[in-house]
Amino acid sequence: MAIQWLEALEPVAIPTETVYGLAANALSDKAVARIFEVKNRPSFDPLIVHVASWDQAVEHIDTYPSAAVRLAQVFWPGPLTLLLPKKAHIPDLVTSGLPRVALRAPLHPLTQALLQQGGFPLAAPSANPFGYISPTSAQHVQQQLDGFIPYILDGGNCSVGVESTIVGWEGPDAVVYRLGGLSVESLESEIGPLKVRLNQSSDPAAPGMLKSHYAPRKPLFLGNLAQLVESHWQEKAGVLSLKPIAGLPPQMEAFYLSETGNLQEAARNLFHGLRVLDASDVTLILAEPVPAEGLGLAINDRLRRASIQ
Ligand code: TXA
Ligand code: MG
Repeated sequence: MAIQWLEALEPVAIPTETVYGLAANALSDKAVARIFEVKNRPSFDPLIVHVASWDQAVEHIDTYPSAAVRLAQVFWPGPLTLLLPKKAHIPDLVTSGLPRVALRAPLHPLTQALLQQGGFPLAAPSANPFGYISPTSAQHVQQQLDGFIPYILDGGNCSVGVESTIVGWEGPDAVVYRLGGLSVESLESEIGPLKVRLNQSSDPAAPGMLKSHYAPRKPLFLGNLAQLVESHWQEKAGVLSLKPIAGLPPQMEAFYLSETGNLQEAARNLFHGLRVLDASDVTLILAEPVPAEGLGLAINDRLRRASIQ
């Protein structure tokens, strides 16, 4: 089913290990334009192109550093996107006219099968309306895009839960443009030190990293949780906490990301937790940064972007 719709140049929601994507034939302007339409996404925000493997990726790029090959060998398929100089056949609509294309081989078996059999790469942003929290289950996609797309390929819950880490090169320097599901430590263990340069919307290198991304509709306050709870003591607040905490006033509603404080489990539950609290009758959400190590960096980045500041 998914493949027929894709061949008909219609967008289809696909599972990946990070978040669900809204996919279309990356080589067709018409198909790619449908993604922007459905997501209500501004055309200056470029799309990641999904391939089955590095062998497929090289068909779409001109030159690349050896470190890119190394990272693809070690971490693909997986939550890593590589920004590399594009060949001319990649539509400008996909890259927003930028000289590099973002490439990723996702891990999910259903999507891998599509990419191996489909005969074309898939451009896919996260399958949420622009600016809202990314979906990590088929139900999340359905809640927001039902009626706007012909098909959702249900592959269960995403195993990583935050978007891919984006890496590119500036001269000899490897640069992380988006913190994500592959930790900086893992990257550095393969290719040595990387710079981290997280982009805002005005930056042409990765113009999609708008501050307001990942935002729930309820205001989210980020800070020391004990203090936040104290100062909102009377309010019907949602509390998003890494581990269970005691002593909350009874009208507050808590969502715990991981019983044991495990950061991988926390990343997996993060967007679901934000959605649960956003959909409940709380009036605001209180949250605290998690330890800044491993996937904690990506979690904190999403919390910051979701917060009012
Ligand atoms: O895990 C993920 O990466 C998910 C799944 C579906 O693969 N996709 C995803 O796509 O998060 P999206 O559209 O929500 O974020 C893509 C971001 C853009 O906003 C931009 O920051 C960066 O990737 N990007 C994509 N293509 C680029 C390009 N040609 N040049 C610079 N930045 C680019
Ligand atoms: Mg997104």
